[in-house]
Amino acid sequence: MVATENALLPAAKVGGIADVIADLPAALMTQNVVADVVMPGYGRLAAQNNAELVASFDVPFAGHTLKVQLAVLPHPDVKQARIFLIDHAIIAGAKGDIYSQDEHGRPFAYDATKFALFCISVATALKNNDIGMPDVLHLHDWHTGMLVLLRAFDDRFAFLRKVKTVFTVHNLALQGIRPLSHDDSSLAAWYPGLYQQLSSVQLSQVTDPRYGGCINPMRTGIVLSDKVHLVSPSYAEEVILASDAAKGFFGGEGLELDLRAKKANGALVGILNGCHYDKTTSRKQTSPVPLLLQKMQTAIVNWMGHHQWVRAVDQIALMRIQQIHAKKLKSFPFLLTSVGRLTDQKVLILRQKVSATQSVLEAILQTLQQFDEDALFVLLGSGDADIATEFREIASRCSNFIFLEGYHPDLPEYLYRYGDLFLMPSSFEPCGISQMLAMKYGQPCLVHAVGGLKDTVVDGQSGFSFCGDNLVQQASLLQKRLQDALSIYGTQDWKIIKRTAKAQHFSWQKSSELYCSQLYDI
Ligand code: GLC
Repeated sequence: MVATENALLPAAKVGGIADVIADLPAALMTQNVVADVVMPGYGRLAAQNNAELVASFDVPFAGHTLKVQLAVLPHPDVKQARIFLIDHAIIAGAKGDIYSQDEHGRPFAYDATKFALFCISVATALKNNDIGMPDVLHLHDWHTGMLVLLRAFDDRFAFLRKVKTVFTVHNLALQGIRPLSHDDSSLAAWYPGLYQQLSSVQLSQVTDPRYGGCINPMRTGIVLSDKVHLVSPSYAEEVILASDAAKGFFGGEGLELDLRAKKANGALVGILNGCHYDKTTSRKQTSPVPLLLQKMQTAIVNWMGHHQWVRAVDQIALMRIQQIHAKKLKSFPFLLTSVGRLTDQKVLILRQKVSATQSVLEAILQTLQQFDEDALFVLLGSGDADIATEFREIASRCSNFIFLEGYHPDLPEYLYRYGDLFLMPSSFEPCGISQMLAMKYGQPCLVHAVGGLKDTVVDGQSGFSFCGDNLVQQASLLQKRLQDALSIYGTQDWKIIKRTAKAQHFSWQKSSELYCSQLYDI
């Protein structure tokens, strides 16, 4: 496995891909497949995890020869598997961030260079026989796409042509697109070196179909790998269709024709990610509200204590929690929860206006208020600054909205465990893990029926879902399904849905069997 994140290592996680990379080696071991992971060390992971340095080797890159380090760690759960870390000052970047922006706020300018060096280092380590020779090279997302470029078009790495490659697309929204030519000589201009030597026929396979003169590492991975894997069967169907912004449909994001061609060759496979079920997931039934509030309060106070700055938003959240405490509620008010990054993918529908003065989010808060004056919506997330500002402003006005901005290590689990209804209105969702975690704790979900959400939540049986032909419809159907859910809350029907949600098992065992029969059978 070649990837950029891994939830097994502290601070090596940004999104759901980290959980997948953490879980796969153990899951695949049940099928007798040994999966080593090779990932960037970001200048810190090797030291943080006491990894053992195994090699230091030269890598030719953009006319320079760079000295790259390779370190290794045993996998904590699978004794046969290893985690390799590749490092260099360019891979570490200025701050050791997994993903970074350049000084102009461009997302891929620096990262395209960083991951190009990572890819050529992985290829070189394989060539030097420092990490063994795999039967299958399984690559994840655009950051690793340049590895198949080297395999296909660079004769120094011709030995890789006998190794089969699988490319997993976790999210088509991020493709690593950058201009092919740069007129500056800064670091951000180094990655095109890998692409600049290509003939025009070769280039036509790996440049961006929508933005002329740009490289597209996601497309590179899709076109040049033997098999392409999407992280749910429904997402695999959506991505072969063109995006349509007017309909609020994200589809193939410009790569639909390439994905369709793969499908025609039987090389496009949708397999759902799994989820861990070994933890105890019982819900404590004794006065859960005060318990949740207490835990949220402690987590926020601790979290604030670890930062030099105190975020205004958390003070509001804290104040709200204290106000609710002061009410000394006896019964459990309805708790709507949501956990996710503040990006268009996750909250576009929530921000949609339903009237001149109200967004979907505000309408939801009003509905909750009418249902039960103590009902709360607790939303945890960080990301886009404009979205955070908007939510912060709403939180300052609406007393039933607790917006927890930032990364709180303990809070997601509390929300999964103690919430009544988990909201996940993503405009698109390749797979999604939060809905699986909420269901694991017996919390039904209200989701937009797209991608992995469609494949995991059955409307009226294990949860509630909506789907509409455009953003306006999606917004109104979300509200309708929320009303429907509230109208049966506490009834026998509700209990059956809760029980059905908890009974779902999205097992890695099943997914890894499919990996073997449909991805690794090449
Ligand atoms: C990305 C997708 C998410 C998926 C995860 C792991 O983060 O947005 O839907 O669950 O990758 O595959």
